[in-house]
Amino acid sequence: MLVIEGPSGNGIGKSIASSLGCDFLESLHTIFPDGESEVGITAPVEGKDVVIVQSTCPMPDKRLIELVLLANEAKRQKARSICAVVPYLAYSRQDQRFEEKGNAVSIYTILEMLNFAGISTMVTAAPHNSESLKAFNGRMIVADAITPLANEVKKDLSKPFVLAPDKDALYIAKRFAEVLGCGYTYIKKQRNKLTGEVKILEAPKDVDFKDKELVIVDDMISTGGTIVQAAQFAHANGAGRIVAAAVHLVMADGAYERMRGAGVDAVYGTNTIPYDRARAHTVDISDAIAAAIRSKAAPTKA
Ligand code: R5P
Repeated sequence: MLVIEGPSGNGIGKSIASSLGCDFLESLHTIFPDGESEVGITAPVEGKDVVIVQSTCPMPDKRLIELVLLANEAKRQKARSICAVVPYLAYSRQDQRFEEKGNAVSIYTILEMLNFAGISTMVTAAPHNSESLKAFNGRMIVADAITPLANEVKKDLSKPFVLAPDKDALYIAKRFAEVLGCGYTYIKKQRNKLTGEVKILEAPKDVDFKDKELVIVDDMISTGGTIVQAAQFAHANGAGRIVAAAVHLVMADGAYERMRGAGVDAVYGTNTIPYDRARAHTVDISDAIAAAIRSKAAPTKA
């Protein structure tokens, strides 16, 4: 097996190669004057099982094209199999069509494109909607990035309680609560499909956050709006310390400041996306990804 780190592998490729005990190669990467990416595989891969590691944020469109180019080059060179490790898979949130907006359901196009490029196995972490990923015509493996993240948070808290800011994040809250040995609940939220604005529809009843260290968990933090709403709710209900933990720290401009302004004391995340380690406790999930590659997950589609 040969692990190739793409231009936005974020160092995960090298770590998983050492964890799997296999060969490692940096990809060629230059940018043409017009902004095009030039990528390349600098050693022959014919007959090899190739793993390409490429996260897709920031610059999701560029990063996806680079992944397609690398995978298709490996296919052209007659690699035996091509697995793409995409720790953060962009477009995962574009999984529904809203008639009033007229949007494309883009995640399906992305999955088809990756498959067409020659990728037969994909490994990702904390996908926005694992149901939609079943459309991938190959093996789709979800690495467990939640347990290492919860273990990191556990080191710092003594009286935790876990809050999911919406029902979709309930599975994350449940896993955190198991690791932290505490209770958990969730808030019902609604996002305006046109403006993206988030509002709380219904808060959990009979919760007592008093003197608790509240851990707000989610798959990702983008604008920070979801966490801000949940933090404001938690403060209004007497929470003491509040921390936010999410696998993917997209952290759009101003997200950190918005969360701090809403009383979030600390941010925890993983290295699926490069982010300022001085601002967020960052957990390396390379071992979780290596374990996922080793696993014999069944193909997602027959
Ligand atoms: C949405 O359903 C996701 O699970 C996250 O809650 C959301 O993407 C976070 O985005 P933001 O930080 O912009 O609220």
